[in-house]
Amino acid sequence: MGDLEEILRGFPLKERWVYLDNAATSLKHERVIRAMERALREFGVNVGRGAHPPGEEATREFERARKTVASFLGVDPECLSFTFNTTTSIHAVLCALNLGPGDKVVTTALEHHSNLSPWLKFSELLGFEVEIVGFDPETGTVDMSRLESAIDDRTKVVAVTHESNALGSLQPAEEILDLAEEAGAYVLLDAAQSLGAVDHDFSRYHFVAAPGHKGLLGPHGTGVLYVREDVREELEPRLLGGGSTDRVEGTEVVPSGFPHVFESGTPNLPGVVGLAEGVRILEEVGLRRIERRVRRLTRRVVEGLMDLDGVEILCPEARRVTIVPFIVEGMDHQEVGRELGERGICVRTGTHCATLVFERLGLDGCVRASLAFYNDESEVEEFLRAMEELTRRGSSS
Ligand code: ALA
Repeated sequence: MGDLEEILRGFPLKERWVYLDNAATSLKHERVIRAMERALREFGVNVGRGAHPPGEEATREFERARKTVASFLGVDPECLSFTFNTTTSIHAVLCALNLGPGDKVVTTALEHHSNLSPWLKFSELLGFEVEIVGFDPETGTVDMSRLESAIDDRTKVVAVTHESNALGSLQPAEEILDLAEEAGAYVLLDAAQSLGAVDHDFSRYHFVAAPGHKGLLGPHGTGVLYVREDVREELEPRLLGGGSTDRVEGTEVVPSGFPHVFESGTPNLPGVVGLAEGVRILEEVGLRRIERRVRRLTRRVVEGLMDLDGVEILCPEARRVTIVPFIVEGMDHQEVGRELGERGICVRTGTHCATLVFERLGLDGCVRASLAFYNDESEVEEFLRAMEELTRRGSSS
């Protein structure tokens, strides 16, 4: 196991801020920054194109990064494509599915816009149906009996989040997979918050879409798409361009093979090399240790906030790993975020690109504290002291 203390010292922004906005993106480690710089300095040319020495090195490093990330996820590198974020991963799947009239996509009101807007907008164009299943406001869990009845023999995809980015509630993803498989439907798992934080077997799902820049510790503009091997031949990828097109014969497009078929255009080489270094850090720390540590910190945030008058945690009975959403009586969530920011504490406020969640809860947003394994007890206590001060001041004014 790697030296955790030394790894924790490698995040430059951690020295300046109590950063509890990890659900938006992770802090970048010195090693990730250096790996990206090395990529740009030493082989910063295009990938999979030039037959010259730097081009070959760029391609080699890109493929080495793929092996690193795939091995961390326990999947075959051929099943793992590098994209630019979760959103592009979801679009790549949607475009490859041949959805049309008579087909149905089942999703939930818990989804981030990136796992709702594409299905809804393309349903207008292609004529398939989208059914949105609600959730329990106490647990933040999708309504499983509604989900079960929504998944019928017309259902092609169940597109569901693993850990809600707005509420932090972990969904019964394996149960959902079983239901979908029974009905002959695919599951697209949005693992934007859980990949790199939750010790889970992602290889079982048909599709997993996730960012590289959150739990995997990579930089902005990186994402991953896992496609299960047996599903690949049923797809017709359509987000095509250079790299993903093998050739055009007259008017017929012959796509490249997997995993390159989902990597259209010049890839983010420095980003992917940085992402692989982020994943090496995770491997050194160990995913079990990461999950244990972040769960402990999150539990302390929940307990500390529950002790404060006027603070209400949303979905108090949720099974949570990294995210704690809350509101403060008599204070706008944005005001809370600004006050915390003035004290050097970073949280996110608003509807977190998940407006349906708040519509269903009848709220205009919340404050969201989100943790990563590189946070520590002293940061959590500093956040709780600041919250105590804010709520005391609020109740005496
Ligand atoms: N999806 C990211 C979040 O939840 C940006 O904050």
